[in-house]
Amino acid sequence: MEGDPGRPLKVGLIGGSGLNNPVLFDVERTEEVTTAYGEPSSHLVHGFICDVPCVFLSRHGRNHDVMPTNVNNRANIRALRDAGCTHVLAATCCGSLREELRPGDLVLLDQFIDRTTKRVQTFFDGEVGSPPGICHLPLETPFCEHTRLLVLDVVKEKLGWDLGRKDGAGDDDDKTHFVMHEKGTVITVEGPRFSTKAESNMFRLWGADVINMTTVPEVVLAKEAGLSYVSIASVTDYDCWRPQSDHSPVHLQLVLENLKTGAERLLKLFKEVVPAIAQRDWKDVVAANEVRIKCNPDDTIG
Ligand code: ADE
Repeated sequence: MEGDPGRPLKVGLIGGSGLNNPVLFDVERTEEVTTAYGEPSSHLVHGFICDVPCVFLSRHGRNHDVMPTNVNNRANIRALRDAGCTHVLAATCCGSLREELRPGDLVLLDQFIDRTTKRVQTFFDGEVGSPPGICHLPLETPFCEHTRLLVLDVVKEKLGWDLGRKDGAGDDDDKTHFVMHEKGTVITVEGPRFSTKAESNMFRLWGADVINMTTVPEVVLAKEAGLSYVSIASVTDYDCWRPQSDHSPVHLQLVLENLKTGAERLLKLFKEVVPAIAQRDWKDVVAANEVRIKCNPDDTIG
């Protein structure tokens, strides 16, 4: 298992709705932390998955009482970075904006569209205690492609799940038919309200595949912090664009009902992905991620 001599490999896990307990862990200890950016959403749970050091954080708090706008993303990411994480596997639930992305499916996100309005998106904000300079972060590839490819390998080779949905494969009630879509553009909205039908249709025209309230700016800050971050979205509903004959438009109860299936699949996935990460050599990736942080003063414009 190798990260970098100065940064040994450690995997951060961010649990979202439906996955706010580190049930897959051999727990070592819990830790209350504060960061230069304030309190994270929950305490950190340190432990191991198949002997690989991991740190779990619950995005919405252990009692699920932190609403999307109020998630202190900077503190969450900073806490994981300070705990020594090199990688982050994030879980999120989402609505589907495409017929073929069905409730129960997983989507390995590869792009985002930002419709948030109230969230700080950088550590380099000029406030006392923040790092010097301005970070104009390149985001052509927002998620860690190396880790994404590894997740896909695990899904194909270890779990044998379908990558994408072939016509007619599995019906909505088939709990044994696991599907992961190998890419998807998420649109993150501010919330806490759900979208109007007009918005939902507009997001489809924009090319978004799924919709949630949390990926931005978590992914942005993880990249700024030099973490290899991937996010796996579990589909809970069809938002509200779809003709309503056989699926009701999104409402909280529907999301909650479908969370359980997605959470079970995510747990299976994380249990295989973590040891697979530990079998690769990440020295070059970790070193490249570090450059992002170290060269920030050079990114300053003006
Ligand atoms: N999270 C789960 N479903 C969602 C939806 N339809 N819109 C926004 N966030 C969601």
